[in-house]
Amino acid sequence: MSQKIIVTGGCGYIGSHTVVELILNNFEVVIIDDLSNSNKKTLERIEKITGKLPSFEFLDLKNEEETKSAFKKHKDAVAVIHFAAFKAVAESVKNPLMYYKNNLLSLINTLEFQLEQGINNFIFSSSATVYGVPEELPITEENEVQRPFSPYGNTKKIAEEVLEDLVKTASNLSAISLRYFNPIGAHESGFLGELPNGTPNNLMPYITQTAAGIRKELQVYGNDYDTKDGTPIRDYIHVVDLAEAHVKALQRLLNNEQNKPLEIYNLGTGNGSSVLEIIKSFEKITNISLNYKIVERRPGDVEKLYANTALAKDKLNWECKRGIDEMIASSWKWEENLKKEQ
Ligand code: UFG
Repeated sequence: MSQKIIVTGGCGYIGSHTVVELILNNFEVVIIDDLSNSNKKTLERIEKITGKLPSFEFLDLKNEEETKSAFKKHKDAVAVIHFAAFKAVAESVKNPLMYYKNNLLSLINTLEFQLEQGINNFIFSSSATVYGVPEELPITEENEVQRPFSPYGNTKKIAEEVLEDLVKTASNLSAISLRYFNPIGAHESGFLGELPNGTPNNLMPYITQTAAGIRKELQVYGNDYDTKDGTPIRDYIHVVDLAEAHVKALQRLLNNEQNKPLEIYNLGTGNGSSVLEIIKSFEKITNISLNYKIVERRPGDVEKLYANTALAKDKLNWECKRGIDEMIASSWKWEENLKKEQ
């Protein structure tokens, strides 16, 4: 019999790709999502790829009663993967309470009601943003955590602290926090990808939307950083590689392999690319000349951020298989498919 996994935020970008990998690995999936930044159509897209329609609970995890009853209904689940959260950095700076309320209440309700039902395994969607401005590169999990620049980032740091405290008293809880670097790319089928509501904040969707004619011009935020071409360096990771890492983390929990009740892993490739390198690769792969302009730096941007991935490789037995070209090509295939759908 397949084991049941509850995936909060399973209609979102990383969540939906993870649901696909879970189904392909014979898990039964229940998605909990309030569709605040995603679309119900994603369920059909997942079915198109996997042949299976995941169960769906439409609910807001801030609502205690509804959350409690959803976990009661699915008390036979063996783990929760918690993606549900707001994630726009600039929006969080403008509206911090909205972010603290949504991201932290959802987390607290999820943990409280899953534990009440004896669902003791938990995977958390964290971010490299918890490293702030790193003192050493590549970043290992031992690097000091700093107060992130944005309220969004701070919700990730606080969430990890909540877990740190909780595992001390909730003796049955086993948790893994995964610190993502920069997820880009889409499912190779072209049926699933990132679908930002409104104007994208992140580089890759902004590039593909500019190339598709939805945005007029890409703004490159600064070329006076101390890097090879002056633009910031990030560790871009294919979303399907990232999704596969969640399955590995889940298997580690289910097989009781963890060394401590809360483990933390960086999920990146270990390679850094600059903004201009990404643009050049995009132009080469698609044969499209991208309309872009260098503008002022964006407040809060870190100069260089890339992961040391040794721990995930060693303990999760996981490694990225897909390179930058595949990330870019799949993002573009997805954007083109979206255009055809309209
Ligand atoms: N960039 C541009 N123009 C754009 C968008 C981005 O030049 O229109 C540049 C940024 O300045 C940065 C790089 O592209 O140098 C990547 O920017 P993203 O917004 O795509 O990603 P960030 O690294 O800023 O943020 C990501 C996640 C956050 C997370 C952070 C952790 O989106 O959720 O990594 O470091 F908090």
